[in-house]
Amino acid sequence: MNIKNVIWGLAFIIIFSACNRKQTEAFEVDKHLAYCDKQVHRTLTELGNRKMMPRNIPDSLTHWKLVPIGIGEWTAGFWPGILWYNYESTENMNNADAATFYTDLLEPLTVLPPYDHDLGFQIFCSYGNAYRLTGNEKYKQIVLNAADTLALLFNPKVGTILSWPREVEPNNWPHNTIMDNMINLEMLYWAAKNGGDKKLYDIATKHAETTMKHHFREDGGNYHVAVYDTITGDFIKGVTHQGYADSTLWARGQAWAIYGYTMVYRETQDKTFLRFAEKVTDLYLSRLPKDEYVPFWDFDAPNIPNEPRDASAAAIVASALLELSQLEDNKEKAKEYKTAAINMLVELSSDKYQGGDCKPSFLLHSTGHWPKGSEVDAAINYADYYYIEALVRYKKLISGIKVTENFKDA
Ligand code: GLY
Repeated sequence: MNIKNVIWGLAFIIIFSACNRKQTEAFEVDKHLAYCDKQVHRTLTELGNRKMMPRNIPDSLTHWKLVPIGIGEWTAGFWPGILWYNYESTENMNNADAATFYTDLLEPLTVLPPYDHDLGFQIFCSYGNAYRLTGNEKYKQIVLNAADTLALLFNPKVGTILSWPREVEPNNWPHNTIMDNMINLEMLYWAAKNGGDKKLYDIATKHAETTMKHHFREDGGNYHVAVYDTITGDFIKGVTHQGYADSTLWARGQAWAIYGYTMVYRETQDKTFLRFAEKVTDLYLSRLPKDEYVPFWDFDAPNIPNEPRDASAAAIVASALLELSQLEDNKEKAKEYKTAAINMLVELSSDKYQGGDCKPSFLLHSTGHWPKGSEVDAAINYADYYYIEALVRYKKLISGIKVTENFKDA
């Protein structure tokens, strides 16, 4: 072997590892977790003793808009979930008390008939984390019951869970399934292995398979909504609800796909899902603006670069890629995904994206529902949830622990 090539090779390895180390060392996760704790306490002060949840802070305001808890409040589980992650990172019992208080407020939702797929977001982010960190059996039972309720929306003819029963009339969508629904499969997988019905595993896997088959274009980009015939089970069409157009790539929709298929691979260990998680991730990464890690709200929005960003998509993807990097069987891809996730966290943790002293949220610049003109360029609770989840996961990752394991017990 040519000695010159060997020397160049060694130099490359040394420089590459130094850069990687620099990136990791530069990201001071404890500092960012301490910042989250500070912001949580500002929000708790704002809430006082009102039994409401912080939902968003529009660009023009400096205080949270609060919402009551009800079936229409799909984000109701995120604030309790934030508080549980904050307790996990601080190990401060006062933070556990706050988390318990807001989790218990969701109790009315736990006894309702199946109203839509959001039950998974609402219950698993709150009670799921509550049980993970406390082992309280009452929380476990609530999650098991919610999983059974969610499964009632599964249509075996179609092979997916009906996402929005209440939206059938206005949109004339017989059986609709939205990409976001992928996230709610985690509660079914969890229930199946924690004393619930084993059929929940099959339902979740069937949903993931059907979605993989119909809900994506050739390049791995997804339609937000897949519409199916309720009776025959046939796929009718792919449309958008929160993206710019049926043919465009809505950033958060793709983020849900990345997070969803990463989690489905973790639960099934079926390599088909790993390869698919790579496909949807690679498309997302390839479409990010050059040297930037927070996407515009829709990758095909017409006025880029003068379009709002979506920090929530970046936070969801950062959290997912930390896990995907650990699940990968391809070392190069593992490295690529870990580096991308850290770059996303670094950008989200910069002044541009932090609520800082001005606002009590962790993050700014998310876009909830652009077509409706709602929550555009705002701070939104689910961006904060996935940001703190990603920080907690990152801390586990650098400690050599599986990112989905309980930090305290590991
Ligand atoms: N519908 C959930 C979302 O806005 O991503």
